[in-house]
Amino acid sequence: MTPEIFIKRHCRADTVKREHVIQPLWSGYGEVVRYSLTGKEAPTSVIIKHCSFPKAVNHPRGWHSDLAHQRKVRSYDIEQYWYRKWAPKCPPSARVACCYGDSYNEDTGQRLTLLEDLDASGYSARYEEGNIDQLIACIHWLASFHARFLHESPAINWPQGLWLKGTYWHLDTRPDEWSAMANGRLKSAAAALAKCLDQARFKTIVHGDAKVANFCFSPFHQQVAAVDFQYVGGGVGVQDLAYLLGGALSEQALADNMDYLLAQYFSELGRELMAQGESQAFVHDVLDEWQALFMIAWADFHRFIIGWSPSHTKNTEFSQKLTEQALDQLYGQ
Ligand SMILES: Nc1ncnc2c1ncn2[C@@H]1O[C@H](COP(=O)(O)OP(=O)(O)O)[C@@H](O)[C@H]1O
Ligand SMILES: [Mg+2]
Repeated sequence: MTPEIFIKRHCRADTVKREHVIQPLWSGYGEVVRYSLTGKEAPTSVIIKHCSFPKAVNHPRGWHSDLAHQRKVRSYDIEQYWYRKWAPKCPPSARVACCYGDSYNEDTGQRLTLLEDLDASGYSARYEEGNIDQLIACIHWLASFHARFLHESPAINWPQGLWLKGTYWHLDTRPDEWSAMANGRLKSAAAALAKCLDQARFKTIVHGDAKVANFCFSPFHQQVAAVDFQYVGGGVGVQDLAYLLGGALSEQALADNMDYLLAQYFSELGRELMAQGESQAFVHDVLDEWQALFMIAWADFHRFIIGWSPSHTKNTEFSQKLTEQALDQLYGQ
């Protein structure tokens, strides 16, 4: 089925017009496209995430293995499941796009996800380098999202239908990057860091790729909505937080604002949990655990960067310093 026919059916549109590609997907797996629609009951525009799996994959770093390919294919499947089953549970303060329908053709490998156009719904702005107001809106989004799905010691098969461990960088899925690391304290501690996160008492659903580019903002930055749920799954909230902060600001701005931004997250998380009716003692325990895990989550992402690309701009002195602190914390020094 062509995207046009698919949209027509699912949105009851009279006409459907392909407008433009917003972004090609990673490694040539497809594209994100905007369509404009007419019809009494149809939205005026929609976004389609259209994936197909070419045989020759053009990976920018040349590290293409079957494992990585399988994981990528599965990530699109998980994203569709997320939109179908979990996204409707998000509160307005953790806004996500509404999904009008999805399809997958096993024979052709074509996959279509039909989403509300968040630009048309008032989220037409994107992140501006160094904008703290926008970053705080993202932090509040994360706090609401994590509070909504927070569980104490969830069952091992939770969250159903998503990655049991969210994020695209967790250690189980990065053996090649781990092997490529130079010997040293971080490499030796990698499994222990991952274990701290895995064995946390309080778990939630993490977005798994919560960088600023995956948020859409209202023009005055107060409201925000998230996209790109390919690595959504179980985890601790501070994994998303560490990743978000590490990619949003210059090294200096991050060093200057880190404590303030962390305080924003934890106070909002506490407020949301209280609003959900949790006891003060419970909230205290969550904050206590996750505050201690922030550094660990930071070091865990730093471990991925060091193995993947040590010359990456995210391998800053500040990041190295936090990682050292995490390792000291881990070994009780
Ligand atoms: N529902 C949507 N409404 C508006 N913009 C969107 C929507 N979905 C995606 N986009 C835009 O397209 C970009 C790419 O989509 P995304 O799902 O993140 O693809 P990728 O997996 O390639 O990063 C996003 O960063 C966002 O700017
Ligand atoms: Mg994206």
